[in-house]
Amino acid sequence: MSEVLGIGIAGLGTVGAEVARLITERGDHLAERAGRPIKVVAVSARDRTKDRGVDLSGVAWEDDAVALAARDDVGLVCEVIGGSEGTAKELVEAALDAGKSVVTANKALLAHHGTDLAKRAEAKGVALAYEAAVAGGIPIIRALRDGFVADRVRRVTGILNGTCNFILTVMRETGRAFDDVLAEAQELGYAEADPSFDVDGVDAAHKLALLTALCFGREVDFNSVHIEGIRRISPVDISFATELGYKIKLLGVAEIDGEGEQAGVSQRVHPCMVPISAPIAGVEDVFNAVTVEADPVGSGMLQGRGAGAGPTASAVLGDIVDIATGRMAPAFGRPAVSLAPAKAAPLSAHVGSFYIRLMVIDKPGVLADITGILRDEHVSMESMIQRGRDPMEMVPLVLVTHEVAESSMQAALAKISALDVVVEEPAMIRIVEG
Ligand code: NAP
Ligand code: HSE
Repeated sequence: MSEVLGIGIAGLGTVGAEVARLITERGDHLAERAGRPIKVVAVSARDRTKDRGVDLSGVAWEDDAVALAARDDVGLVCEVIGGSEGTAKELVEAALDAGKSVVTANKALLAHHGTDLAKRAEAKGVALAYEAAVAGGIPIIRALRDGFVADRVRRVTGILNGTCNFILTVMRETGRAFDDVLAEAQELGYAEADPSFDVDGVDAAHKLALLTALCFGREVDFNSVHIEGIRRISPVDISFATELGYKIKLLGVAEIDGEGEQAGVSQRVHPCMVPISAPIAGVEDVFNAVTVEADPVGSGMLQGRGAGAGPTASAVLGDIVDIATGRMAPAFGRPAVSLAPAKAAPLSAHVGSFYIRLMVIDKPGVLADITGILRDEHVSMESMIQRGRDPMEMVPLVLVTHEVAESSMQAALAKISALDVVVEEPAMIRIVEG
């Protein structure tokens, strides 16, 4: 058997400790698949004294993670610290510049610096692999990069954050409060170090930016992603969604908008109402799913566990074994220098249907005021639900629209929310067919 591949692991938290455990405990299996032994030779984390649940005797410790890149016995750096700046970035840059392949689960780093890091990897003829960074245990990067190589992708849609999908599922099924379910997701190791990245949609946006680069051959353009999270999803909207035949999911959607030279890519992450019959609506708990619509393959969905130690470590090890065998592909499916400059399509150009919930004082003329505004802004209604009848109290008024331009809907909402009888900021959730 050929030369040992020495791994330096930076970060021994949820993901890093599981990667170290699997390499240590499944060494023979991995060596058989890689055609050479794979060994953890050095590690780094903040606290040397913490029990990691894995035997690290004989493994070198580096207080400074960046030093892993310079060690002669480290042939591949596995970065599972996290964060778009600081040590993680310094380490990945140092490793690539030193001609060492990098495997990372760090979508924040790649969303902000992916194009530059891919160029560094290519300049040195080494790999930058990140299967674990998008949709946890689903091999979506391989599928898009290698499997759909002949296809022209029209649209990619995904449940890309396990924490949010877990929260929305548990809230709907049990009526438990948002904060309580978020705390459980943190205990289970699903959430980011800063869980606002999860619930505010930023983590899903990081992943969407990577999928967009891969699917559409563009430079990674995180700054153009329209981002809304799930904090404003209330039990009343979850209940109306069920009544109307929908489930609420946080989706990331990227698609080509426009033709030829004018074509841009629209990237958006926001809560969506998805028909209960749509395959993606059946993806619950911490599971993620990615639907790809492409020519000639058609439409298909991959699903699997999107977060947690096991699924993420599985994806990291897939990349490590690939590199050990010499299988290498450009990070974004084509040479980084040939990625087209990012060109964003604005959200205002989006056309779709909307769920709107207004809290109104139920007195004569309210509906006329609201429908008058909708008429003026060319918003056509598909259905309406009004509950309760108490002129002294506010009642929910739910509207579902036909397809309309986002710009018209936003203009109508601005006018509606200024009405005296509308007593709360309107709740608006986009309807996506899934
Ligand atoms: P985590 O549990 O918070 O672990 C982070 C690890 O990094 C800890 O071991 C910490 O050390 C170490 N660390 C922090 N700063 C460091 C520094 N300056 N130098 C060296 N080590 C440092 O995070 P995680 O959940 O494993 O996530 C790691 C990465 O994987 C992140 O990029 C995350 O987005 C990504 N990811 C996570 C999941 C998941 O389900 N958790 C899934 C996919 C991708 P101490 O332990 O000593 O504090
Ligand atoms: N915090 C992320 C999630 C981890 O909940 O999906 C997986 O990337």
